[in-house]
Amino acid sequence: MALRASDIPQPAPETGFDPDDWKAFSSLLHRAVDDMVDYISTVADRPAWQPIPEQTKALFETPLPETGIGLDRTYEHALQNVTPYPTGNIHPRFWSWVGGTGTPHGIVADLMISTMNAAGLGFDEAATTYVELQLLNWLKSMFDWPETASGLLVSGGSMANLVGLAVARNAMADFDVRNVGLGHQRASKLRFYASTETHSSVRKALELLGLGANALTLIDIKADHSVDIRLLRQRIESDRAKGLLPIAIVANAGTVNTGAIDPLDAIADLCAEQNLWLHVDGAFGAMAYISELASHQVRGLQRADSLAFDLHKWMYQQYDIGCVLIRDQAQHRETFNITPAYLKKLGTGLASGPTDFSALGVQLSRSARALRAWMTIQSEGIGKFRRLVDQNILQARYLSQRVVAEPQLELAAPTILNIVNFRYRADGDDASSDQLNQYILEQLHERGIATPSSTVLNDRFCIRVAICNHRSRRADFDALIDGVLALGQEFESPSTLPNGSS
Ligand SMILES: Cc1ncc(COP(=O)(O)O)c(C=O)c1O
Repeated sequence: MALRASDIPQPAPETGFDPDDWKAFSSLLHRAVDDMVDYISTVADRPAWQPIPEQTKALFETPLPETGIGLDRTYEHALQNVTPYPTGNIHPRFWSWVGGTGTPHGIVADLMISTMNAAGLGFDEAATTYVELQLLNWLKSMFDWPETASGLLVSGGSMANLVGLAVARNAMADFDVRNVGLGHQRASKLRFYASTETHSSVRKALELLGLGANALTLIDIKADHSVDIRLLRQRIESDRAKGLLPIAIVANAGTVNTGAIDPLDAIADLCAEQNLWLHVDGAFGAMAYISELASHQVRGLQRADSLAFDLHKWMYQQYDIGCVLIRDQAQHRETFNITPAYLKKLGTGLASGPTDFSALGVQLSRSARALRAWMTIQSEGIGKFRRLVDQNILQARYLSQRVVAEPQLELAAPTILNIVNFRYRADGDDASSDQLNQYILEQLHERGIATPSSTVLNDRFCIRVAICNHRSRRADFDALIDGVLALGQEFESPSTLPNGSS
């Protein structure tokens, strides 16, 4: 029996999320714009970090609301309770992990991206697709990669490593990984090689790719924290002699701990000689390639089969945006390409876009994150990035000199690019000296002086300053040194400084 329209119950009136009053929405948005410009332009006047009060945290424990409080009140709530307690990476004295700062250009782009809410498919015939393709071409030329190479924007370095290593696995295994899977008898013999300083995301990627952490052979490093290529070669040869299947080397252009750079050119030669895939993890250090001061240190990354790097680190872009380049387009597509009927590209109209990003990675729907970087590069030119990368390298050298000049301080590793590791010298044993340095770091944060992070080098706790920050100035590093010296003194003789001073 045919269904009549009157049989279908009608929830009246029909509704959506759009405001009834666009003018009122515009006023709120203008207010948000003013508040955020105020927020970012005064960031240096605020502490580098501040603790979140317990009563504020409790506000985030209320149950799922059935009815809302409206956008005005929700905005007020966020303004009072969210923006005052950020990670702080827009602050000039933020130097934790490898955090980037973001740009004002990105703020403008974010408004446009959110408003358009593009799906980022690549086969959608939308201008955002062309923006993304242009950005990828710019990135390839920045690293002297051929235009024929393939590239994909992803959420960050971890995902870029995963995608690059997936292609390496599928291209280099001598069996059909996609169809047969890792049940194949030779799968357990596949081997990847990387230095002991390699980022944990590489191990995670190999675990996720079903190869297991045992497929990653870690090679010892030299005094400068780069891989010992002699040991690397020996291990590859001895593994082959044992019947294992070496397929790839993961080389570092900037390790997370110290910024160490593996000998990329020599590793590229070794890969050519041994028929191995070269994946370079250049999460932040790849940017040294455009530097006047450090470009020579990362020569060779233009020879990789796959290159992972982040734009949200040393390219200063808002989270999240990373990139993977794969030299051989066909190998890239062969790893991820599936086109079901419902995603078929058509000859004309909306579904006639120039590419298909899902054939190059894990995600189907993606944000139009390219616009931020595209707008920053378009408006400033790559020369500005070159200048800022060099500025950060010079700041790292300046900080290192300040550390060396202070009898109470010592460098914990050579300063190679933009990362400085140092310690406050202590008279006691290793454990108490670690305790002292941890105290200094925690108090730098708690008192809002600066936010370096920490690591452990040669079994000793270190204060680690990673500079991917276009807002830092030399005076900020002076403030750090002053803070560290005062806190060290305070720890050693607690009566010398009143508690809570900075
Ligand atoms: C060398 C290196 N590789 C990979 C990553 C992971 O990048 P992401 O945090 O963007 O996933 C990092 C992060 O700091 C890194 O320093």
